[in-house]
Amino acid sequence: MERLQKVIAYAGVASRRKAEQLIVEGKVKVNGVVVKELGTKVSNSDTIEVEGVKLEKEDKVYFLLYKPRAYISAVTDDKGRKTVTDIFKKHVHQRIFPVGRLDYDTTGLLLLTNDGEFSNLMTHPKFKIDKTYIARVKGIPTKQGLMKLQSGIKLEDGKTAPAKVSMTSFDENAGKAICEITIHEGRNRQVRRMFEAIGTPVVKLKRERFAFLDLTGLSPGEYRQLTKHEVKLLRVLAETGKVDYNN
Ligand code: URA
Repeated sequence: MERLQKVIAYAGVASRRKAEQLIVEGKVKVNGVVVKELGTKVSNSDTIEVEGVKLEKEDKVYFLLYKPRAYISAVTDDKGRKTVTDIFKKHVHQRIFPVGRLDYDTTGLLLLTNDGEFSNLMTHPKFKIDKTYIARVKGIPTKQGLMKLQSGIKLEDGKTAPAKVSMTSFDENAGKAICEITIHEGRNRQVRRMFEAIGTPVVKLKRERFAFLDLTGLSPGEYRQLTKHEVKLLRVLAETGKVDYNN
C-alpha cells in the first residue's frame, strides 16, 4: 500500500505537492469515489482517476549513474544547485529519483529509479547490500584505526556494523593514503564520519561498487539502464542476502 499522492506523483501526473492539492480539491477518485483525505493508502489493484482521467502506471525504469562531483542527490534543490536528475532531463521523461544518496562532493555509482518499492528495498537497513568506496584520506591510518573501522566504531548515532577495510596505498612524505572500505549501512556521511573518527579525514570519496554493480564503461556524468536481470538480482540479493552473480 502506498499513499495516494505518492502514487499520483510516481505515475508522472504531477509533483507530490500538486498531487496533494488535486486530492484536497476533490479532483481525485479511487474506485469511482472522490477521496479528499491526504493519508489515504491505495494498492496496485485500485483504480485511480485524476480530473476524470484514469491513471496509467508509468513504466518502471532503473538507471546506474556515474555521479559527478558538485551534484546533489535529490530531485530538486532549494539552493539552486545542480541535481542528479538534471543529468537525465533531456532523454528520460519518467519522474526518477536517487536510490539513497551520495554527498554533494562524492562521486561514483548511484542508482536512480521511479520504482518506490525497489528503492525502499535497496535502502532499508534490514537489507544488507554491500557498497564499496575508495577514500583518499589526510594522514595515514594506523593499523589500530583500520581495525576499529573493521570491527565497528562508535559514532554519534551509534556503533557502525563491521566493515571491510584495506589501505591500498600511502605516501608518507605527503601524509596521505588511499583506502578501500565496504559497508552495508547507509547512514548520513557515514564513510566520512568513520575516517574522521580515526583521525584521518576523507578528502576525496568515490563509490566504486553497489552489490555486484560497478562503473565499468562510464565516465562521470554518464549513465546506463540496468538490465532486467540486474534488477531481478538486486531484488533477490536484498531479500535473501544471497545471489549467484555469475548466473
Ligand atoms: N559515505 C559518505 O560519507 N558519503 C557518501 O557520499 C556516501 C557514503
